[in-house]
Amino acid sequence: MSAVFETIRGIGVVPVVEIENPDDGVPLARALRAGGISTMEVTFRTAAAADAIRLVKAELPDFVVGAGTLVTPADVAQAVAAGAAYGVSPGFRADLSAAAAAVGLPFIPGVITPSEILAAVDAGHRHLKFFPAAHYGGIDTLRSLAAPFSRLSVSFMPTGGVRAATLADHLALPHVFAVGGTWIASRADVVGGRFGEIELAAREARTTLDA
Ligand code: 3PG
Repeated sequence: MSAVFETIRGIGVVPVVEIENPDDGVPLARALRAGGISTMEVTFRTAAAADAIRLVKAELPDFVVGAGTLVTPADVAQAVAAGAAYGVSPGFRADLSAAAAAVGLPFIPGVITPSEILAAVDAGHRHLKFFPAAHYGGIDTLRSLAAPFSRLSVSFMPTGGVRAATLADHLALPHVFAVGGTWIASRADVVGGRFGEIELAAREARTTLDA
């Protein structure tokens, strides 16, 4: 198992971000770090994602920058070329897993159903994104998944609809290794350069995590 999963577990929350201007990546990472959160998942939903990852990695080598919304093997290759520390997908595809494994990229596939979980476990994964969490029963569903999957050592990163108010309840579940979401650094705040507000939201999450 990759050490980066333990690093993410230690941080506890993964801000999911969408970056339009690659130059926003570094001030965004600085704001998150100042608020006590040294990771973010830069989603491949914009053309700027790979360049933003590259710049953050060069400027802040201790910041753990991941790549998200990886949906094709080509996305995986781009994420690795940019220097991403880990990759995240909204879903599970065996060829994506294979592409990540082939280049040694720690990879967190997305799942919802028991069958998807079994497929991901079969492909060697134990750290899974539970997405979109809120629409599929959130904490209640995660509780139901605990019993059948605990002996497989599966743990989840619920993402999608999680907010500051529900962060602590999600993290209280023993088989949740981190929580993901856009509430800390929304697209509007990043585009608007509101890095002070992002730092405050990160600090608020940090305070919850440390409580
Ligand atoms: C993701 O890609 O992980 C989601 O867009 C995050 O969902 P959220 O905006 O509800 O946090």
